[in-house]
Amino acid sequence: MELRKGLEDIAIKETSITYIDGELGRLYYRGYSIFDLASFSNFEEVAYLLWYGKLPTRHELDDFKSRLAEERSISEDISTFVKRTAKFGNPMDILRTTVSMMGLEDRSEGDLIGKAIKMTAKIPTIISLIQRTRRNQEFVEPDPSLSHSENFLYMIRGERPSPSDTRVLDVSLMLHMDHEMNASTMACLVVASTLSDIYSSVVAGISALKGPLHGGANSEALKQFMEIETPDNVEKYVMNKLSSGQRLMGFGHRIYKTMDPRAKILKEYANQLSKNEEIKRLFEIANRVEEIGIKILGKRGIYPNVDFYSGLVFYAMGFDPDLFPTIFASARVIGWTAHVDEYLKDNKLIRPKAIYVGDLGKRYVPIEER
Ligand SMILES: CC(C)(COP(=O)(O)OP(=O)(O)OC[C@H]1O[C@@H](n2cnc3c(N)ncnc32)[C@H](O)[C@@H]1OP(=O)(O)O)[C@@H](O)C(=O)NCCC(=O)NCCS
Repeated sequence: MELRKGLEDIAIKETSITYIDGELGRLYYRGYSIFDLASFSNFEEVAYLLWYGKLPTRHELDDFKSRLAEERSISEDISTFVKRTAKFGNPMDILRTTVSMMGLEDRSEGDLIGKAIKMTAKIPTIISLIQRTRRNQEFVEPDPSLSHSENFLYMIRGERPSPSDTRVLDVSLMLHMDHEMNASTMACLVVASTLSDIYSSVVAGISALKGPLHGGANSEALKQFMEIETPDNVEKYVMNKLSSGQRLMGFGHRIYKTMDPRAKILKEYANQLSKNEEIKRLFEIANRVEEIGIKILGKRGIYPNVDFYSGLVFYAMGFDPDLFPTIFASARVIGWTAHVDEYLKDNKLIRPKAIYVGDLGKRYVPIEER
């Protein structure tokens, strides 16, 4: 039996959801280039595309938007739990628990996509409540007349965002919606393959996304830029980090061996948002880290990934750094559930093997003799 650490280069299913060309740095959702979707589409349309496999007609999109908007409210129990834990809890732990609570509250059978719509609609309400509670601000009720991203920013800020800020969040969320068979999607499939429920799958996805090697890298990347303080410190910082065996956060990817296309788009937005001194300085630092990092690591196929600039974009939009992985999850829930839906159409219990390297036939020693 061949041992493939980290399941590298193992395919576990056929998919028509997402295709990544890691050599050329291309990403496609349902056959559409991410660059085209980022230029012409929007959150609701891409969510529909990933779940239903085609772009919606005007009528389908209007229906779908209302369905999403109607599901934004959270229960009293979830709201109380968030308010009680927001000031000390890790936001990913809070999110994981609240999705679990949603599963407890939803007694209905079947309708996987309907449940996915509920989670997608409610997660931004939970994230906003976490941030506002911590800042001792009043909760802002979701406004169903606003688009998903406009409402998300409205609930965070307490005022209607500008169309350009709404567009930045909308595109950022689209870029995070799916990414083929990453660690968190795999975690969702492992759970789904036992015929457990979709909330349990998403709880597993959130748990896997939390780690700094996956969705936790966005806040780590920003932390890194903050630690560097000025562009002049970049070279020394990067050299020290790499020579001491540490990793540059926001760099490297199992599939991309060139610049992640999502990082290219987010870099443009980070530049666009560099209006005040702090963001301008962080953007300059990030640029310099990118340049030096590529000079050193590029020859090994290690380049900036989605998390390199996304943290800076989320920060400039007014989100607290430790909330960034939850924003990632708020979009990735769409990819997770689309993959679970696809997998269950031809389900096979996921049960790999381990190669046993221990001893056999040992004599059992009674406790008094050990
Ligand atoms: C994402 C990641 C886990 C993918 O890695 P992987 O395919 O499992 O590859 P490995 O972790 O085995 O790394 C392969 C080699 O590249 C090096 N490497 C990978 N990413 C690196 C980084 N960000 N900085 C420095 N070196 C890196 C490793 O040290 C390793 O070197 P070695 O062969 O000399 O031991 C890895 O690139 C990483 O840890 N990146 C930083 C965290 C991050 O940004 N995560 C978000 C991913 S979207």
